[in-house]
Amino acid sequence: MTKALQVAIDGPASAGKSTVAKLVAKKFGYVYCDTGAMYRAITLAALQDKIILTDSEAVTKLAQKTKISFKPGDPVQQVFIGTQNITDAIRQPDITNNVSTVAAIASVRTELVNQQRQIADKGNIVMDGRDIGTTVLPHAGVKIFLVASAHERAVRRYKENIAKGINTPLDQLQAEIELRDKKDSTRAVSPLTQAADAQLLDTTSLSIDEVVNKISEIITKKQDEL
Ligand code: DC
Repeated sequence: MTKALQVAIDGPASAGKSTVAKLVAKKFGYVYCDTGAMYRAITLAALQDKIILTDSEAVTKLAQKTKISFKPGDPVQQVFIGTQNITDAIRQPDITNNVSTVAAIASVRTELVNQQRQIADKGNIVMDGRDIGTTVLPHAGVKIFLVASAHERAVRRYKENIAKGINTPLDQLQAEIELRDKKDSTRAVSPLTQAADAQLLDTTSLSIDEVVNKISEIITKKQDEL
């Protein structure tokens, strides 16, 4: 039997990680894990329970007891806390603008990283996030660092929002993305950085299909080596 392959896809907000990771996982029949959704789930649970997001101890306890699960779905994977479907709720602006605070708590990261490793232990996996190649799966066979200009990422998020009926001005979205980049890259624990052995892929002028094809070529080559 060939060894399981771990594919780590990291990069800044709205670089297309989730879209591409999901398509790549489907193409190869791998499990897909969106780790950003897990940080978002804890943020939602904390806001629902009226926990102050800077209260590290309370948010960590919540992370330890919150049961996050995923179910395959089209066009998006469905995310649950217990039996509550939170797929849409975790994409709302109040979660997007607060999640960096939760993701900066070291003990929350320890808990979620453990859960992510358990998910990855089950076999072939595509996992996307900020610290997959550096921290969660440092021995992943394929590591991709996906980037795009802040303007292009804001345009993508703007179009997604419009489709969902959310009407935030483009320049505000770009400012929010730049602020989130700054928070994610400068936090003390597991900041967003490209792993030394990750391949850089700039998607600014690439279509989703082109990005999927480039990553697929890398995976196929790696599979042949296993
Ligand atoms: O990819 P996303 O926008 O859904 O991520 C939500 C937030 O969670 C983002 O601010 C970065 C953080 N995050 C993280 O710190 N580590 C991960 N592995 C995934 C996401």
